[in-house]
Amino acid sequence: MLVNAIEMLNKAKKGNYAVPQFNINNLEWTKAILEECEDNDSPVILGVSEGATKYMGGYNTVASLVKGLIKDLNINVSVCLHLDHGKSFDSCKKAMESGFTSVMIDASMYELDENIKIVKEVINLAKQKNVSVEAEVGHVGGIEDSEEVDVLYAEISDCKKLVIETNVNFLAPALGSVHGEYKGEPKINFERMNEINKIVGIPLVLHGGTGLSDEIIKNSIENGINKINFNTELQMAWSQAVRMFIENYSTYDPRKIISSGVIAIKNVVRHKINLLGCANKN
Ligand code: 13P
Repeated sequence: MLVNAIEMLNKAKKGNYAVPQFNINNLEWTKAILEECEDNDSPVILGVSEGATKYMGGYNTVASLVKGLIKDLNINVSVCLHLDHGKSFDSCKKAMESGFTSVMIDASMYELDENIKIVKEVINLAKQKNVSVEAEVGHVGGIEDSEEVDVLYAEISDCKKLVIETNVNFLAPALGSVHGEYKGEPKINFERMNEINKIVGIPLVLHGGTGLSDEIIKNSIENGINKINFNTELQMAWSQAVRMFIENYSTYDPRKIISSGVIAIKNVVRHKINLLGCANKN
C-alpha cells in the first residue's frame, strides 16, 4: 500500500526503532527493495532525488513505476514514495501532483527565516494532498546529485523554531553525517541529537547512512532517530556484484547484467531492516 510516512514514523517513535529510506535508481532497484521489505514484513520509504527522478524520466514515471510494482508484485507492506532533497517549492509540487506520498523540502541552504517560509509553503499544499513533509536544518555534508557540501551542525534553537513555526512532520537536523563515503571517522553529535529530540518531539531523520557503523546507527536510534537514509551503500554493493558478473560471463543480455546486482542489494536491505529494528513492524 502506498502511504505517507506519518503513521509509520510515529509508530517507530513509540516503538524506539527506525524505518529505512532506500534510494532508488531504476526498475530493478525498486523491485529488489520492495521484494526484500515484503519478505521481512517491513514498512519502507523509497527515496528519489531530483537527479534520480530526472534520470528515470520524471515524477510521473517514478510514481507509475512504484504503483505498478506494488500492484503486480502484491506488495502488502506500507510503502512511502518520498522526494529526497527537493530543492524548491516547484519540485515538491511536481512530486505531490504526480503521486509521491512524501516530500523533503531542503531549503537548508537559505537563512533560517527563508527556510521556514519555504517549508510553510510546501506544508500548505502537502496538507491538501495528504503528503508528509521533512525539512532540514544545518547542512548534511558530502555529495548529493554530484554537488559537494560542507557539514554545518544544526543549532538546537533553530530546530525548535522551525518545528514550532511550520508544524513539519519530521526533521533532519544535520549533526555530522555526510552523503557518500566518510573521509575519516564520522563525528556525530549524539548529545545535541538527544536534546533536539527532547525539544521538538517529532521523528528525527538521519541522512548519510552509508559508512556509519552498526553501533553509531543503534546509538542514533536511542537518541531519537526514526528514519535513516541509505543510498551509496546499495550502489557500492550493486556495482561490485555487476563488475564481477561482467568479468566472469560474456552474456550481452541487459536483463542478466543489470539483475546480477540484485542479490547484493537485497543483502544490504535485509541487514539494514534488522539493524534498524524494522522487521515485522508493518
Ligand atoms: P548515503 O548515500 O550516504 O547512504 O546517504 C543517503 C541519503 O542520506 C539520502 O538523502
